[in-house]
Amino acid sequence: MKWISTLTVASLIVVSGISVKGHAADLPSLTPETVADYVYAVVESHRAFYTSHVVELLEEQGIAKAGGEWHTEKKTVPLPVQVLNETSQRFSSKFNGLRYQLISLWPINVKNSPRDQVDKSSLEGLNVRPERPISRIIKGDAQTYFRAIYPDVAVSQACVSCHNNHPKSPKRDFQVGDIMGGLVIEFPVNTR
Ligand code: HEC
Repeated sequence: MKWISTLTVASLIVVSGISVKGHAADLPSLTPETVADYVYAVVESHRAFYTSHVVELLEEQGIAKAGGEWHTEKKTVPLPVQVLNETSQRFSSKFNGLRYQLISLWPINVKNSPRDQVDKSSLEGLNVRPERPISRIIKGDAQTYFRAIYPDVAVSQACVSCHNNHPKSPKRDFQVGDIMGGLVIEFPVNTR
């Protein structure tokens, strides 16, 4: 009976398209949209975990609060958006060109403004059709990139209150459910 199970395993491998030799080129390829969805899932789950299990816990216990000026203010930890943007800056320079960033048409921090016309028109497009991220192929001089922008929604009153009352916020009438900005996910793609 041993040969049957060997045969079954072998045919399963063939049917599922998994290469026995394991060369990457033989594996079924992923679309850039799927890769961006994977990165999005990881980034957003880390942000949600940090918000509810670090920031809210520290605030509830009166230990620290989250604030934009955490570099200089005592008893202040980074805002979730800063953890997100700053971790990307940390690794994208030494890694392979993958980057992610929360941006907005109404940024508190001007560094989080749209980088170019593509970002700007994608953010505008999200306000009209927020169901799926807006993606584009960006051709640079030496490299071609895939860039997707996912809507960033005001999920709670905390998002709205803090932004509407922040001295540097250019917009003061956000409401729960509004799209406040977008999460950019960009990585190089092979165009052979
Ligand atoms: C306690 C205040 C506070 C809360 C709560 C808050 N934010 Fe922010 N948010 C900020 C600050 C300050 C910045 C700018 C951070 C920096 O220096 O990059 C920012 C940045 C952003 C940006 C990037 C554009 C910009 O304004 O610079 C987006 C998008 C954003 N927040 C969305 C949200 C959403 C969605 C929520 C709720 C899930 C939220 N924020 C909760 C204070 C807050």
